[in-house]
Amino acid sequence: MHQQAIDKPNTSPRHPDAQAGFARQLDQRITHHLSQLAPAPARLVEAARDAMSSGKRLRPYLLHLVAGDAADRDAVLDMAVALEMVHTASLIIDDLPSMDNALLRRGRPTTHARFGEATAILTAIGLLNHAVSIANGLPRMDAVQRGALVAILSGVMGWQGLVAGQELDLNGFSDADHTGDALDRITRINALKTGALLCAAVEAGAILGGRADGERSLLRRFGEDLGQAFQIADDLIDMLSDSTAIGKDVGKDAGKETYLAVFGAEEALRRCRALLASADAALVGAGLSPEPFRCMIDAIFTPMLDRVPAAQQQAGAAR
Ligand code: IPE
Ligand code: IPE
Ligand code: MG
Ligand code: MG
Ligand code: MG
Repeated sequence: MHQQAIDKPNTSPRHPDAQAGFARQLDQRITHHLSQLAPAPARLVEAARDAMSSGKRLRPYLLHLVAGDAADRDAVLDMAVALEMVHTASLIIDDLPSMDNALLRRGRPTTHARFGEATAILTAIGLLNHAVSIANGLPRMDAVQRGALVAILSGVMGWQGLVAGQELDLNGFSDADHTGDALDRITRINALKTGALLCAAVEAGAILGGRADGERSLLRRFGEDLGQAFQIADDLIDMLSDSTAIGKDVGKDAGKETYLAVFGAEEALRRCRALLASADAALVGAGLSPEPFRCMIDAIFTPMLDRVPAAQQQAGAAR
């Protein structure tokens, strides 16, 4: 089958040269796996290709950096594609009219806007399904490792992951969910809808890199803090940016109980930075060389946080 090249990510941050090789290999691997979808209906494959064609690729980079250079390259790339497929499916679903009802994603029309709602739903299901089949076919892996990686993927999609987070994000908690205060509710939603996938990338990287148990618990905290920080930064740009600049609709979370809505922009900025510092400390504690992570995190967060007006930046820093 003809393999159409993946477009250059139009929202990609500038990664250091050392990561450029990974970015190229990842795009080739995505192209390869999308070519495996045939003989599925061409329109469905085109929708998957379109949805997967750009993005910052944060989860694949996290996986790659945690796994380290000693890990099996093919297994890292395949697992990175699987994670990016789950992430992309979550975006397609998130944008649906019954969810955040968005028309622009990754600088192009959302999947349902271009292909219709039915095809968008089917594309998302197909990507989730294919992600599991990629994890099931990971090369040169013993059954225990493979099982653990498949469990990570299925867990993140499901009832203790994205599905739960998106339900709570859209419809809130019921009494039976036993929540505490607003901070508790917001932290739980962000952990489920955003943190879980970042943690999955980190945990999968730890398995592929053969990291010790002691390192893994700190790496988990790194993923959790990073996930909380990332959603706060994303909520900041949802309020403070314009859709052309970030390639997706803005203002879609107005009215929701987010950290930003409850505590304000200055406090959100302060909390985001504190979480990033805590994530960094966990990384250092785990004994990983922090520099490549810092470079990547900086490349992703700086353009997001720079959108906060200077006055609020100063007030946030002073608190
Ligand atoms: C968007 O994630 C969804 C959130 C968890 C906030 P990204 O900002 O990583 O989206 P892409 O992959 O770069 O498009
Ligand atoms: C992100 O929430 C969580 C997902 C599972 C996609 P948002 O709704 O804030 O993500 P964006 O801003 O649309 O990318
Ligand atoms: Mg949403
Ligand atoms: Mg959204
Ligand atoms: Mg958002």
